[in-house]
Amino acid sequence: MNELKHIAMIMDGNGRWAQCQGKKRFVGHEAGSERVREVTRYCAEHPEIERLSLFAFSTENWKRPKLEVEFLMKLLSHYLEKELPTYLEMGVKFEMIGDASRFTPALQKQISELEEETKHGTRLIQHLALNYGSRNEILRAINSLKNSEMVTEESLGNALDCKHNVDLLIRTGGEHRLSNYLLWQSAYAELFFSDTLWPDFTSAELESIIARFKNIDRRFGGVK
Ligand code: IPE
Ligand code: IPE
Ligand code: MG
Repeated sequence: MNELKHIAMIMDGNGRWAQCQGKKRFVGHEAGSERVREVTRYCAEHPEIERLSLFAFSTENWKRPKLEVEFLMKLLSHYLEKELPTYLEMGVKFEMIGDASRFTPALQKQISELEEETKHGTRLIQHLALNYGSRNEILRAINSLKNSEMVTEESLGNALDCKHNVDLLIRTGGEHRLSNYLLWQSAYAELFFSDTLWPDFTSAELESIIARFKNIDRRFGGVK
């Protein structure tokens, strides 16, 4: 049975979930943010799972209409403000990945405060990917190493925001693409694509994906 230390999720489909019901896209973002807790709790309650990396806002998402971006920033701030007790109760350590420098100083402060306040969480590390793009992450890592004589797989891997290989990557919302998410870390990840729109995704579906993951023959280029 495969070990499962790191799950990554592309939480996609909020907008379509709302539009299908004749509602505005922002209703879907709100519903989507409410789903994060259940999946995080499931992972925190399974000791084998050490990290859960959730894609919440990409470096490309700034291209969306100004009103949608503004709404997402407010929703994020609200989420960071209200979820502290839940993180503490679940024993989850929160760590952002991505480039925080494009956020307002107030939002940056909220992010570092939540990181600080949850730093003793031992049951799960939740990486929230915010203004995250793999190309941006890799470039920042390369620039931080430019005085090194020789960049190695190990030194570059350790200079990334997320330093851990992904075992299982799940994308909801029916698209079969990675959208610039954890490209380096997912080199050998098992990829699962679900048609479920993110606001409808449940821990029961996660559990059934994990059951399938467990039985995959992972060879990493070798033979078994
Ligand atoms: C994912 O849902 C959330 C973000 C990218 C912020 P979308 O907003 O991409 O929803 P769809 O894909 O348009 O349905
Ligand atoms: C990927 O979803 C980013 C997040 C889920 C945060 P998008 O909806 O932005 O991706 P594309 O545009 O379909 O590739
Ligand atoms: Mg989308």
